[in-house]
Order: sequence, then structure tokens, then C-alpha cells
Amino acid sequence: MITHENCIFHLRTESYSYLFRVNGYGILEHLHFGNPICTSDAAAFTCVPGLGWGGSVLLDEQDTGSCLDALPLEWSGSGRGDYRESPVELDGKATDFRYVGYEILDGIVPMALPQAKDGGETLVITLEQKGARLYLYYTAFETALTRHVVLENTGKTSIAVTKLMSQCVDLPGHFEMTSFHGGWIAEMGKTTVPVNASRVVNESTTGASSNRHNPGFLLGESGAGEDHGRVYGFNLVYSGNHYASAQRSLQGLTRVMQGISPDHFAMTLAPGERLETPEAVLCWSDKGCNGLSRNMHRFVNEHIVPKYWRYRHRPVLYNDWEGCMFDFNHRRLISLAKKAKDIGCELFVLDDGWFGQRDHDKAGLGDYTVNRKKLPKGLEGLSKEIRGLGMEFGLWFEPESVNIDSDLYRAHPDWALTDDFAPVLGRHQLLLDLTKAEVRDYIVENVSRILDQAQITYVKWDMNRHSIALGAKAHAFVVGLYEVLDRIFSPRPQILLESCSSGGNRFDLGMLCFSPQVWCSDNTDPISRLDIQGGLSYLYPQSAFGAHVSAAPHAQTLRTTPLSTRGNVAFFGVLGYELDLNHLLPVEVQEIKAQISFYKANRKLFQFGTFRRSENGWQVLGGDVAIASVFHKQMDAAPGYEQLRVPGLTAQRPYRVRSLEQTLRVGQFGALVKHVAPVNLDPNGVVLRTVDHHYTMPDGVQTCIASGAALESGIMLLPLFRGTGYDKNQRTQLDFGSNLYLIEAEE
Ligand code: GLA
Repeated sequence: MITHENCIFHLRTESYSYLFRVNGYGILEHLHFGNPICTSDAAAFTCVPGLGWGGSVLLDEQDTGSCLDALPLEWSGSGRGDYRESPVELDGKATDFRYVGYEILDGIVPMALPQAKDGGETLVITLEQKGARLYLYYTAFETALTRHVVLENTGKTSIAVTKLMSQCVDLPGHFEMTSFHGGWIAEMGKTTVPVNASRVVNESTTGASSNRHNPGFLLGESGAGEDHGRVYGFNLVYSGNHYASAQRSLQGLTRVMQGISPDHFAMTLAPGERLETPEAVLCWSDKGCNGLSRNMHRFVNEHIVPKYWRYRHRPVLYNDWEGCMFDFNHRRLISLAKKAKDIGCELFVLDDGWFGQRDHDKAGLGDYTVNRKKLPKGLEGLSKEIRGLGMEFGLWFEPESVNIDSDLYRAHPDWALTDDFAPVLGRHQLLLDLTKAEVRDYIVENVSRILDQAQITYVKWDMNRHSIALGAKAHAFVVGLYEVLDRIFSPRPQILLESCSSGGNRFDLGMLCFSPQVWCSDNTDPISRLDIQGGLSYLYPQSAFGAHVSAAPHAQTLRTTPLSTRGNVAFFGVLGYELDLNHLLPVEVQEIKAQISFYKANRKLFQFGTFRRSENGWQVLGGDVAIASVFHKQMDAAPGYEQLRVPGLTAQRPYRVRSLEQTLRVGQFGALVKHVAPVNLDPNGVVLRTVDHHYTMPDGVQTCIASGAALESGIMLLPLFRGTGYDKNQRTQLDFGSNLYLIEAEE
């Protein structure tokens, strides 16, 4: 609900109140963003007069309360007394936008993206200065609010825009900023720094949202933790260069702004023209980071991902990339597809290498002719046979790029995005200039044709080099990309799109408006994924995470981890398998079959359940069922007891807690096998190897009944291995072990 009373605007939902007022100078003063309150409380949040101090600049010499620098503001400018960072820079001059009026719109206001969002009520505040109007948009959703601005040139001369943020707000309090940084195969490393007088900036300048600095971040009040304390969350519905900053003033106000990065940004607005910024997302919780994540997850699941896919379950897929890379043919794919079907996969995805001269990553990008040497029956023939096996068929594309060694580049070298210098390549490729209509048409026509011909129900949309375009062109590239995605996928809503950029190099809300899931990282090592998926979970729901089980030792870390842990981590996302199925041992096939069938039985909970990060793992909760995991990294000698704490269930209700059946491979004990086997076996001998491939030993099976209250307090888990031989009533856990517990209400 949005109300306007006595110059006070109030956006109120069940989860938050957001209040600001128009003061006597037509300046917007921020009052409150936090727990739901009454509009009549507004006075309690208003700053008392007498704000100006020392040499501060006053808007009105007679009024000490007119010092902009000391007020909590909803928007600001420069050159009028507010010395803090300005969210707008026009013609390199002072700006002074004042209130003119407002409007409340029912329901939908499309954001800068062509993909319209729905729900919510929208407040539009109009501010004005000579020659320009600024519209501030606020849309109230149940658990989050969004803000963006539109700048209009109402004058007679052009305006040079070098900075225009989507939102700016001054929040009282001491904060720490948690943001997420990294690079290829090391995405989403969590960093927390205090926000003080020095400006803390979270920015991307690669042309895309990037794995260096995800656009989403948190501001937690000092002392806030996972389950307690006040935390604000911010994100941006945008896939290009982004910027966010936080800085605390002497008065204890933290200015937070977000928008397109001003780095090299320059746009000229001719008279009558408008510039619309992407939507910023603002969220709040007093239940710690987990509470904040719940609010963000709900917002993304209900308002960001395409309508068709909201809360719709996602198939378990098999992707051929890590198993085959570029080395495949029709026969090999069909044989893999049969095995994938046998273990329980529902969708077969053919990754890179199916087109042009694509036998390596130096050629072929930009071409859409099927490589008949590898696929003599074409994609139609392949897809038909795969569907005949009872699986759906998905395909990899990388439409934004071109190799110099491609028919497309030979025909249209001018379609590549270049600058005044010799081209510089990334993964041997250039980007196509999506600001050109003919380039966009080429992509839309070719991708659409193939999707329809081969009855494709899933697309992996990759992008392996980032833009070199600067300024207005960088923004126009992103807008061009959104147009392309909209034209291809809006008429085909049932196609599941998974976007990717060398893994998670473009994991953002802009892409999620089109692709309900994103490939988190080329690193599928479960121990790395604890950080990658764990980092993402602060801002994005697990239904958005492409999470695959792959081979061990792992291609990116050389780490060997148990298959159980690889499954247990990938379960908390959209499960897939990406390894050569021909190399699986009989015991592994059995284990994978059990994993997929467990995942399918609990898919709704894993993909859409309420997610929680606990002290020792991840949990999902839905109604009266929960699944909780416990993850270990390096094991200590003689480890202490471990508890499982699962809050959120019904206190008085009894629950059955069952560990997911896990087994131990005999072979991994080497010479120690004499402690567990009745006969003395050669640790390097053929007998032990054969036994290892076919038989496993039960491990740490635990079943008990506990009330919701007991689970909230924490139940005891079976002890871990303590150096005293095998015992099936302990968890004989090696490094990187894990357990999963299914908690169901007892009838
Ligand atoms: C990128 C992706 C991988 C795979 C390869 C194919 O690196 O992240 O998953 O699709 O491209 O070339």
C-alpha cells in the first residue's frame, strides 16, 4: 500500500515500511526504512531543526535547518550545500531538483527491461530543475521495493549525462558492507568491511555485471549475524557495468546509491529525450542475513524470473561438456544419452561444438550451420532420437560472440564490436555489436530457426568474453541483448533458459528476468561450491543455481571429494550431471541413481523451499518437511560432538529425522582395510579393487524422533570417526565428507 498524507509518502507492506517526506524546500527527506510502522510515527523520524553547523552551506540563510549536507535525503544533487556523493552529474554543473508532484500507479510499471514485471503499486515523484525533469519511481512488492529514475530533457539544448544512479538514500546507523568478489572458477567470495568515512565502492567495469563484483550486496548493522540483527540488501536489475557506494557522514548517516557505473559513462540527451535507469532492489529484515535472503529469494522467485517458470520445477539434466568437450559424434552422444536416461536424467544438453568448424574454441562462433561430420543426422535427427529415449533435448549457444575464423566474420567483419585500435581477443573471440539492428536480427533469426527445427526445450546461453564498449555504447549493448532475448524467448516461454558467462561471470537479476537459472561457475568442486553457492544464496534463490555433479579429482581444483558430497552440495540448486558416464563404476552408478531419485522426490523443497545457512551446512524448509545438510572440509583428529539445529518447524510436533543413506567405498582405506575386513587383503591387489567397484559399507545411519522445539534447540548427531576403526554407528567421515537429514512430520 502506498499513501500520501501531509507531505509524507509511505510504502507499507507486511514486511516493511518505507517513509519519506517533502520538506518546505521541495527536497525529499528520508524518514524510515525498516519494520512496518504507522504514518503518524513519521514525526519521530524527522530531524530536529538546527542542523547547520560551522561553515556549512544553508539553502536559506535564515533557517539553520536548511543544510542539505546534514539531512537524510532520498535524492541529492551537487553544488547546493550537500558535499556528499551526488547520484547525478549533468553537464559537469550543479544540480538542484525540487519536488513538483506525484502520481500513484496501479500495478505494473515496466522497468528499463523489455520484460515487464507485475504486481506491486508504483509511486512516481516528479522533481524539476531548469531544463530537466527527474521522475523517481518506487514500486512496493511484499518483501522488497524497487526504485529507478527517468531523466527527461525539457529544455532547448542537449544535456550531457555522465552519471545517473537508480537510487540514493541516507540510512541512519553503523553498517558493515558484505559484497561478493572473485573471478573465473572462484566466484562469489564474501568480503565484509565496515562502512565509515571512506567511501566503500562495489563496481563492475568489464561491460557486464561480472564475477569480479556481483551487483548485489548487504549492509548489516554492527553485530548482525545469520539469524539475528538488522540487515539491508541491495541489488540491481541490470547486466552491464554497475556501481554502488556506501559512505558514512559525520552525522552518522550512511549514503547508499546504486546504478549504472559512471566509469566512462557519457550520454547526450537531446531536447525531449529521456534516459531510464535500471531498477534497484532494496530489501530489509530484522532476522539477520537469513531473514534478508528469504525476502530477496521470494522477490526473485515471484517477480523477476519469467512468469512461466515461477515455482515450476526444473528438470535434472545431463550436460556433455566436461565428459566430451569438443570430441563427440552422434553415436557417442546417443550412448551417453542412454546412460543418462538410465541414471534418471530428464534432459540431455549438447554443449559447445555442434556448429561450423568448432573443433576447438578458436573457430566457428557466429556460425549456425550444423557440423555434419559430427552430427550426420543433424540436430533434428539427434534430438528426435533423444526424445525417443524419453528425454528432452537442450542446446548450447554463444550468440553474442564471433571468432575471426568464422564464416560470419569473413562476411561481416564490421559486425564485430571494435574500437579505433587493433582488435584484442578474449578466448579467441570478439563480441558482436548488438547495438546494430542487423546484428540483432541475425541472432534472433538463426537461434529461433534452430530452436524450432530441433524441438529444443532448454538453452544454455553462454558469453565468454566481456565487452570493450564504453559509455553510451556499453549500455546500448545491454539494452540490445535484452531485446534479442525478449524476441527469442517471449514467444517460446516454455523453453528453459540457463544463462552462463564462463560460469558465473554474469549472474545478475537482469539475466534472471529472462533465464530462470544461471550457471554459477565452471568450478563444480563441492568444496568450492560451498563458497560459490553459499555466496549466491545471500541474494539469489537456489532455484537460480545450475549445480552439477562432476568427476573427481576435479578438473579445476584437482581435489578428490566423495560422490555423496558432490551430490549433497548440488542438491541445493538445480541438479545436473556433467561427467563421462562411461567411466562410472557400478557402485557409482548405484549411488547416482539413488541421488537423482532422492532429489526428484524432494525437488520442490530443494528448488523452492525456504533456504537457511546454518553453522554447519544448508537447510531447506517447506511446511512440515525440512532437509538439513552438514558439510565438513578438513577433518580433525578426535573431533567433538556435532549438533543439528533446525529452526522453523512446529514446536510441539514430533518429527522423524532420517539420515540419507550413505556408504563408504572399501578401496579408499588402502592398507587400513585390515581394520574393517575379516581377511587380510593386499591394498593394491585386484581383489580389493574388484570389491571396491561393487560393494560398499553402510555409514552413519541415524534415525530418531524429535519435536520441532528439540530440533530448534539442536539434536545430537552420531559421533565422527575418532581413530578407532570402523563402526557403522559413527560417521566414518574422510576429508570433505557430508551428511543429509530428511526431517518429516510424524503422523
Ligand atoms: C564456457 C562455459 C562452460 C562450457 C564452455 C564451452 O566456459 O562456462 O560451461 O559451456 O564455455 O565452450
